[in-house]
Amino acid sequence: MLQGKHILLGVSGGIAAYKTATLASALVKAGAEVRTVMTENATKLISPVVFDNLTGNKTSTDVFDRTYREKVSHIANAAWADLLIIAPATANVIAKLSHGIADDMLTTTTLACTCKKLIAPAMNTHMYENPVTQDNIEMLKKYGFEVIEPDSGFLACGTSGKGRMVEPEDLLEVIKHFVPCKKDLAGKRVLVTAGPTREALDPVRFLTNHSSGKMGYALAQAADVRGAQVTLVTGKTNLTPPPFVKVIEVESAAEMFDAVTSHAAECDIIIKAAAVADYRPANVSSEKIKKGADGSDMTAIPLERTKDILAYLGEHKKEGQILVGFAMETENLIENAKQKLEKKNLDMICANSLRNPDAGFDTATNVLTLLKKDGAKELPVMTKREAADKILDEICY
Ligand code: CTP
Repeated sequence: MLQGKHILLGVSGGIAAYKTATLASALVKAGAEVRTVMTENATKLISPVVFDNLTGNKTSTDVFDRTYREKVSHIANAAWADLLIIAPATANVIAKLSHGIADDMLTTTTLACTCKKLIAPAMNTHMYENPVTQDNIEMLKKYGFEVIEPDSGFLACGTSGKGRMVEPEDLLEVIKHFVPCKKDLAGKRVLVTAGPTREALDPVRFLTNHSSGKMGYALAQAADVRGAQVTLVTGKTNLTPPPFVKVIEVESAAEMFDAVTSHAAECDIIIKAAAVADYRPANVSSEKIKKGADGSDMTAIPLERTKDILAYLGEHKKEGQILVGFAMETENLIENAKQKLEKKNLDMICANSLRNPDAGFDTATNVLTLLKKDGAKELPVMTKREAADKILDEICY
């Protein structure tokens, strides 16, 4: 989604400036074209040469330098940008921007920008919490800036508190959310399920599966970027949910059933990427099950069926609602997926085979066949994020 996008990276003189190099690199890796604008103070903390090399573009630092690509560099960069992010944004730069002061390359460029503008403040806690800084931040919000609230933690000044710049990988996600792109899901409410369920046997043990949640999280992020209001119902995973998505954490199939069914009626699109357990232990012990208790080892676990959430949603589908399921199979992929499409009253099912090394649990890629009532579309191997967009394309068009 950042492929070919023009990102203007503003760097002001906070110690967190060294982390911005990681952001520049991540943006370039994600396919964006990046130009950097630095304040003079920022250049004392990290050399512009770092950004020159990472982005392949000469960093702008001096309004009167005549050696840049364009003669009136601050205006040209502002016109070029699809999105501006200032990270870190110091109290001083925030104060200047909120009052329209433009006395260096970064502030003049920002004043000339008509694109989306993000700022990531980073400073000492007292400086951040000072009412004058807070007022300036409010003023910037009023002028249309998106302010990425700093984290709390250990600060370079040796104290602990609020004021740490948000980590580069999280800034990247915020940029993805705000970068201009097609918003074909604007106004739509989308519910996505992801990850595995855990079915408790006793306080120590549970039955689960290998689902990593990657496909569901990619779908939630893609839907968010395309303008939807997204709810992600997720089992336990190691993933960080995308920002701006409402997250409901669940453990068991029963909890997922409750979370999904209580939100389903208000959703336009429901995509069930979770790997839900079909069975759970019939009896859950409140104490840890000990081996050899009463002279008898536990060598079998009596199971009972869980509720099929997707089948329930299919039975209670509201007018115009789009219901999408997943089918992971080890044999008869298309035949089994078709049966699920019909039996669960779905609009589409995304079939993938566990036999394909590029698909399945915990892989970064997927190989899907999208089946609808009127036909099937085979997709080549692609990242789960790309597959998410293909699924949403199929829903939208
Ligand atoms: N699903 C669900 N609730 C369940 C089981 C599955 O909502 N209790 C959903 C999954 O999220 C998926 C779809 O149903 O979108 C198909 O799941 P899958 O495990 O492939 O198939 P099952 O319907 O469980 O059938 P089988 O076990 O026979 O393959």
